[in-house]
Amino acid sequence: MKKDNLKITIAGGGSTYTPGIIQAILNNIDKLPIGEIHLYDIDEKRNNDMFLIIDYMLKRENLTDITLKATLDPEEAFTESDFVFSQIRVGGMKMREKDEKIPLKYGLVGQETCGLGGFAYGLRSISGLLEVVGHVQTFAPHAWILNYTNPETIISEAIRRVYPKVRMLNACDMTISIEETIAFNYGYNRKNWISEYYGLNHFGWYTKIYDKSLERDVMPEIIEKLTTENMKVADFNAGDKSWQAAFNMMSVITKNFPTNIPNNYLEYYLYPDMVVEETDKEYTRANMVMEGREKNTREMAEKIRQGKTEDVLNFNFGEHGQYIVDMASSILNDEHQRFMLIVPNNGAIPNLRSDAVVEVPAYVGATGAEPISLRENICDFHKGLMEAQVAAEKLLVDAYFENSYQKALQAFTLNQTVPSARFAKLVLDEMIEANKGYWPELK
Ligand code: NAD
Ligand code: G6P
Ligand code: MN
Repeated sequence: MKKDNLKITIAGGGSTYTPGIIQAILNNIDKLPIGEIHLYDIDEKRNNDMFLIIDYMLKRENLTDITLKATLDPEEAFTESDFVFSQIRVGGMKMREKDEKIPLKYGLVGQETCGLGGFAYGLRSISGLLEVVGHVQTFAPHAWILNYTNPETIISEAIRRVYPKVRMLNACDMTISIEETIAFNYGYNRKNWISEYYGLNHFGWYTKIYDKSLERDVMPEIIEKLTTENMKVADFNAGDKSWQAAFNMMSVITKNFPTNIPNNYLEYYLYPDMVVEETDKEYTRANMVMEGREKNTREMAEKIRQGKTEDVLNFNFGEHGQYIVDMASSILNDEHQRFMLIVPNNGAIPNLRSDAVVEVPAYVGATGAEPISLRENICDFHKGLMEAQVAAEKLLVDAYFENSYQKALQAFTLNQTVPSARFAKLVLDEMIEANKGYWPELK
């Protein structure tokens, strides 16, 4: 692998997360010496807006020797790429809004990656990511793809069925975000932690958090704190009501099941009724993001276009960008840093089917991910929950490749946010209409 003058391509260049990722690249240029950044998108306006913002960032840091291009042409975007960071959203926020609002009409969880909204997004997202991965195989077969595109488990399952040997890491920023929030609230330094965790994406549990400086497992004391006092959202999400609600639910889960620290996304599977009761069915997370992050990004580009560049980049990006940059650096420099990754199980969780896609810690080096196997079986409670979810996700991916309405209905019915096959069918039929042109035809 080349060691300098690297070319990085961002697939979904127009994403609102791109500035955060670029900022992290620029902060780590010694470990990830890049020469070229290509923004690849299918939406010219979004890609060009992002070009302006990133160009501004490069100039501000006097890094004008880095070549920046924005293109809709896959050949130009991917040829000779060393790393592809993927963060596409097929159908955009408008379709996310439908994923959230259609299930809610029937009293079911309406969410980006969980429940039936997540399944609807999955059936759209697979085609988009297969296309991106296909371009990479054609134009840069040796490139590493670092994927954030959701829904992660479904994407990973589908891509590996077509490209079993793909050089791709799938990662989610939620575990570091949870850890950052815990550390921020209770006065720890996350950098000292070695975390043990297992599950599926957005569906897992911590089993230990060993603090190297304190020389003890701090999970029991954190559980104690979580059960007595809700956490506040950390700086980078300050004032965000929906993240506050999610962290409040983490305390509810922990009070009832105090053996582990849960991933906050388990709220959708364990307490779907409570979540639905608290959700505004007319104004969901997609609306908040469109009127927040999305609007800010358009305004930022507009200000730069008009030459008003004072304090243009004024928001905090959290660790999302740093995490993916650390992964690239760990591959490039064979650092064997530890990350939570979404990988084929293959025995990592010994008593779970080996062909499941799981989320576990892994060391990352020049040859990719080396997942860490658990040394004991998981409990029946977690296993039962996970097995149903794995089967539902596999059925959904089968439905995609086999154009099978029946498999899609089985997947929707098995999803644990759904109490009745009647609702599964009502939502599926409405989703088929809403996703015309995005989903494969189901027969
Ligand atoms: P966004 O809509 O702001 O940006 C996505 C971009 O992808 C858009 O500019 C869009 O035009 C582009 N796009 C859509 N289809 C494409 C295709 N086929 N090829 C190339 N580009 C395409 O969305 P966002 O909020 O920035 O999120 C981007 C993605 O990152 C989503 O999938 C989201 O779920 C995911 N995400 C994942 C994590 C994680 O932890 N894994 C964290 C944050 C965001
Ligand atoms: C976390 C999750 C992502 C998810 C994102 C949604 O970062 O790990 O998988 O896409 O939250 O955030 P948003 O602000 O778009 O609702
Ligand atoms: Mn995630």
